[in-house]
Amino acid sequence: MSRIQRNSSTVVLHESNWMASTARHMMASLGLAILLMVGSAKAKGSGLATTPPMGWNTWYAFGCHVTEADVKVAVDAMASNGMKAAGYEYVNLDDCWQGKRDAKGYIHSNGRFPDMKGLGDYIHSHGFKFGIYSSPGPKTCGGYPGSYGYEERDAETYAQWGVDFLKYDWCSAREVYKPSQIEAAYEKMERAILRTGRPMIYSLCEYGMEAPWIWGPKIGANLWRTTGDVSNKIGFEEYERMMFVGFGQDGLQQYAGPSHWNDPDFLQIGNRGLNLNEARTQMTLWCLLAAPLFSSTDLAKLTPAQLAILTNPEVIEVDQDREGIQGHRVSQLGPVQVWVKPLSDGRMAVGLINSGESPLPASVNFSKIGFSHPVHVRDLWERKNLGLFENSFKAVVPRHGVVMIEIH
Ligand code: GLA
Repeated sequence: MSRIQRNSSTVVLHESNWMASTARHMMASLGLAILLMVGSAKAKGSGLATTPPMGWNTWYAFGCHVTEADVKVAVDAMASNGMKAAGYEYVNLDDCWQGKRDAKGYIHSNGRFPDMKGLGDYIHSHGFKFGIYSSPGPKTCGGYPGSYGYEERDAETYAQWGVDFLKYDWCSAREVYKPSQIEAAYEKMERAILRTGRPMIYSLCEYGMEAPWIWGPKIGANLWRTTGDVSNKIGFEEYERMMFVGFGQDGLQQYAGPSHWNDPDFLQIGNRGLNLNEARTQMTLWCLLAAPLFSSTDLAKLTPAQLAILTNPEVIEVDQDREGIQGHRVSQLGPVQVWVKPLSDGRMAVGLINSGESPLPASVNFSKIGFSHPVHVRDLWERKNLGLFENSFKAVVPRHGVVMIEIH
C-alpha cells in the first residue's frame, strides 16, 4: 500500500467519526470517503503490476531508428505468434519518438510517428497496452526533448494518447538535479501521472545509481532498473555482460514484491550473440528473479526455437507466481551456481546455471533449501516429470546453459 493510500484511509477514519452526528454530515463524509477511495485507487502500486509486467520494448530491436511501422509489425507478431497467449501484454515505445514542443509547451511526436493516438488505438485494439518513454531531464539519452519543466503537460499528453506505462530515464537529469534530488524528481512525474486519473505503470530507469529499490516503492514506482544496460549494443548481446547483470541481482530480493519489482533490463532472446543455451539461461534467471519480462528484439525475425524459449508457459509461470518472491543464489562452485525461487503452495523453482566453458555437473541438496522429505521433480524446459528424489538432484549442465526444475 502506498504512502498516499495510507494517509487517505487515516483521513477517512477521522472524517467519519467527526461527522457522524447529522445526516447531512454523514452524506458529506460518505462523499469524501468515495472521493478519497477514488484517489487512492489511482495511487501507484495499487492493483498495477501485481505480477512482473510482461511485454515488448523497441530499444534493443530498433534503437533510435524506430518507426510506427516497426511497432505495428511487432503488435501483429505478438498477437499471432503465441506471445500474447503467453502473457506478453505491454507494447512499449522506448526513446526517440519525440518531436518538438508547441507554443504551449505540449510535446508532439516526430515524423516517424505521425499519429500517436492512432498508434495507441492500434495497440489497444489488438488487446495490448501502450507504453512510452521520457526523461526527468531536459533531454533523453538519445538527445530528444525530455520532460524537465513540462511534467504535467507531458503526463496529460500521454493520458490523451492512451498510454498505460511510462519508463522515465535519468539521462540528462544529472545536469539539472543533484543526486540527493533524484527521489523528488521521480516523484514529480508520479504526481503528474496521478493527476491525469489514468492508471499507468511507472518504471524508473536510473541504472541503480541511488538505490531506487529503497525509495522506489515509497514514491509509487512499480519497477526500477537495478543496473546499467544489459547490452551496450542494439540488437546484440554479450553473454558475459548479461550474466554479470543477472547474477548481480542477488541480495536485492528483499526489495521486490507485488507491484514493486527490481528490473535487470530487457530479454535479449533473438538478438545476435546469444546461442540457444544462453537464451534459455537468460529466460531462466530472469524468471527466477521475478523480473519484468520485456522482449526487446525484432520479433519478425525470431526463429521457432527462440520463440519457444520466450513462450514456455511453465517457465513464465515461475516468473508470474502470485507470491511475487524474487529468487536468490544458494550456492556457487566455480562457474556453477544454484538459484532458487520459492513459489506459492510450498513449491520451489530451482535453476542450475553453468557459465563455464564446458559441460559441468551441478547438484542441489534438498535439505539445504528447506525440504526435509523426498520431493517430486519436474524439468520445466523439457516439460516432463522426472520422478521422486530422495536427498538431492544432480545434472550435467551444458556450457553456458541451464537446467530448471520445479520441486514440491
Ligand atoms: C538508456 C536506457 C536504455 C534506453 C536508452 C534510450 O541507455 O538505460 O534502456 O532506454 O537510454 O536512449
